[in-house]
Amino acid sequence: MPKLKRRVTKAVFPVAGLGTRFLPATKSVPKEIMTLVDRPLIQYAIDEAREAGIKEFIFVTSRGKSALEDYFDHAPELENALRKKGNDELLKTLKSTNMDSGAIAYIRQHKPMGLGHAVWCARRLIGNEPFAVMLPDDVIAAETPCLKQMTDAYQETGGSMVATMEVPRDMTSSYGILDVEDANRELATVKGMVEKPAVADAPSNLAVIGRYIITPDVLNTLHRQKSGAGGEVQLTDAIAAEIGEGRPVHALRFKGQRFDCGSKAGFLQATVSFALARAELQDEFSSYLRDMAPLIRVAE
Ligand code: G1P
Repeated sequence: MPKLKRRVTKAVFPVAGLGTRFLPATKSVPKEIMTLVDRPLIQYAIDEAREAGIKEFIFVTSRGKSALEDYFDHAPELENALRKKGNDELLKTLKSTNMDSGAIAYIRQHKPMGLGHAVWCARRLIGNEPFAVMLPDDVIAAETPCLKQMTDAYQETGGSMVATMEVPRDMTSSYGILDVEDANRELATVKGMVEKPAVADAPSNLAVIGRYIITPDVLNTLHRQKSGAGGEVQLTDAIAAEIGEGRPVHALRFKGQRFDCGSKAGFLQATVSFALARAELQDEFSSYLRDMAPLIRVAE
């Protein structure tokens, strides 16, 4: 008998953060609207979600994020202007950012109580089905989009799943860190996970990267609102509780390059990489970088 397809059609995007690392830019512009080349960070996450079959997009926002809502709205004046000019190319680009009516929902996180709390805020919209969580700060360039790699693997595993990659040992305190059974496998069984451990306490250097598939049981754990690292309700802890309950949790070493766009250095690296990948910029930009290289050596 053919296996039943396990569908993940909803994704939660926690976007309530203040983006203080990018002040003053984020004083009036939500971090998720900051652009890599010419696309806001959030657009990369949405495109990835769509390619993984996501149909409903749930944003957990906070005060000062209205620019995000506007971004996903239709822009009839702009579309008319482009149509009049016969600029089909740009019109197509613009339309690709439109969302179907009812496909997108916004819910407020009233207090910054952590990632776990943000996801819990979306519980009524999620209901009783597995869902994805995507952190737009983590931008992943990949031939097969990272979330699609995960939803494919999920067909085999079921249960909750996190994306993972190795990070330098001295960086473990910035991530959720995994304890896995079969560390070298692409798809590993997770035995434990801990949020932002000190280097000495880290069970490995396998970090959770901001892509998750989560079963609804996790929402029940989050309902208890138990605080963890940093005094916040941690998603990592709620997923780890699944293991204690005997439910499977897997970690996928995704294929692709992850950029930490929550940091300035990561954001700049992403900007350079994405610019070099654009046919219309490649020549000019790579020749600029080549000219820059000797100057960088002098600066050292
Ligand atoms: C969050 C998660 C953490 C994960 C990280 C990935 O942390 O809590 O487990 O490793 O995202 O980017 P944050 O970066 O929001 O502090």
